[in-house]
Amino acid sequence: MIFEQEIKRRRTFGIISHPDAGKTTLTEKLLLFGGAIQEAGAVKSNKIKKAATSDFMEIERQRGISVATSVLAFEYKGYKINILDTPGHQDFAEDTYRTLTAVDSVIVVIDVAKGVETQTEKLVQVCRMRDIPIIVFINKLDREGKDAFDLLDEIEQKLGLRLCPLSWPIGMGQDFEGVYNLWEQKLKFYLGNNKQRVSESVEITDIFSDDLTDFITERQAEKLREEVEIVREVYPAFDRKAYLKGQLSPVFFGSALNNFGVAELLDCFVEIAPWPQPKKADERLVDPFEPKFTGFVFKIHANIDPNHRSRIAFVKVVSGKFERNKNYLHVRLGKTMKFSSPNMFLAAKKEVVDEAYPGDIVGLPDSGNFRIGDSLSEGEVIHFRDIPSFSPEHFRFINNADPLKAKQLAKGIDQLMDEGVAQLFTLEQNGRKVIGTVGALQYDVIQYRLEHEYGARCTYEPFPAWKACWIQTDNESQLAELRRTKQRNMARDKHDRLVFLADSEFNLQMTREKFPDIQFTFKSND
Ligand code: G4P
Repeated sequence: MIFEQEIKRRRTFGIISHPDAGKTTLTEKLLLFGGAIQEAGAVKSNKIKKAATSDFMEIERQRGISVATSVLAFEYKGYKINILDTPGHQDFAEDTYRTLTAVDSVIVVIDVAKGVETQTEKLVQVCRMRDIPIIVFINKLDREGKDAFDLLDEIEQKLGLRLCPLSWPIGMGQDFEGVYNLWEQKLKFYLGNNKQRVSESVEITDIFSDDLTDFITERQAEKLREEVEIVREVYPAFDRKAYLKGQLSPVFFGSALNNFGVAELLDCFVEIAPWPQPKKADERLVDPFEPKFTGFVFKIHANIDPNHRSRIAFVKVVSGKFERNKNYLHVRLGKTMKFSSPNMFLAAKKEVVDEAYPGDIVGLPDSGNFRIGDSLSEGEVIHFRDIPSFSPEHFRFINNADPLKAKQLAKGIDQLMDEGVAQLFTLEQNGRKVIGTVGALQYDVIQYRLEHEYGARCTYEPFPAWKACWIQTDNESQLAELRRTKQRNMARDKHDRLVFLADSEFNLQMTREKFPDIQFTFKSND
């Protein structure tokens, strides 16, 4: 019974947003509520500052610091909350996609003035592909922004979400007075003129009663009543089942910086958000309530200390109970391993834990055994392989700059690819290696880390590719023909899957026309 309760009280989620919408601030406020940190500012180190984007050493340093904050666990009202950090910087988008395979729900933060931005669009698309339940938090209401109804329209259109507002703002910017919580039918407003203090929630079950004007002006009350009426007419009522299926997204308004609307969001979140859900493995659907442990690695974090190549593999517990010092099967290596110091991350602190339940993330110190997507079990051969690779945006040949260090280079490249820093493609024609990345920044990171962690030096050369396309077909003769005529563009990825490196959109289109039975996708299939 305890096992079941432990699972049901867990909420494992990610916060996603376009950089600067307020993800870090919101995370921090949630941690403050959970008592996990005592003062604001503690999470800031987690963030890769815009100013530092050209300075990869600084980024690496900050990424190092952020090991402890990759997962933030805290207790709140009897719930165990695990927030998985998702880097906002677009060059690390791949990291974010992978992290999304380990969450059970997400909160999307949108800046009220900027509306839906590109990064939000991409990330929500990934969530929708997986039917991950989504809650929307519209932030920065203390600033002038878009009209609430217009913004909801924009979100529905651009993100393809069906929305259901559970709170509604009273005014905006200078005139922002508070939030009416449609979920609990409670009002919260600012006290005094300087907006430094926020009221206790006031229960107002009927906004048409005169009580409302005890707290806000007649004009504000009128506007709120009108708008709430429209909301009730236009938007569907909250339906938890639809939310859990990813078909309906509750919306909250607030200001993370001013701690406004955050408690409402959190209180509702713990109540409605899903506990750990069954996960699809290649072999079968794995239920969290199964007694035997299974889990998978969704992230590997390098230790920033260049003298130690140790890393931390982050494992999401899918089913059963994970225990310290117990033997588990590393499925890919077919090897039994036990872990003497699994970590859990409580705010900025790292602690050794004896056990972990489904939904939890454990950090396993690793010296090179793990690769993203690896599975662990109590003996069952199971593969949680839905961690796809997406086509990189940049491609370069990598060359060895120090012939005496070929071995170190190979090892370094291998391990950095295991961590998911970039993708390696080996050309079929001549075995030359091409590194594909999401952002140009990664090339600097790789070069720097190869030198400082592996003592190897590399140079790059341009490789003219536009996208990597994974291939699927039953038509063997077309496949043979493709490999023959497009020799120069054919490569193998790290898992030995065949990939077509298209020069351009036009080139891909022509190839598709020529080989109609071959499917080319920008995402690996398993
Ligand atoms: P991110 O993680 O999504 O990139 O965003 P972050 O929380 O760092 O917020 C980006 C900027 O927006 C920060 O200002 C932050 O203080 C501000 N911000 C967040 N929430 C609100 C809000 O509710 N209202 C207002 N007015 N601003 C908000 P910054 O100047 O870039 O950083 P800092 O100097 O304050 O650290």
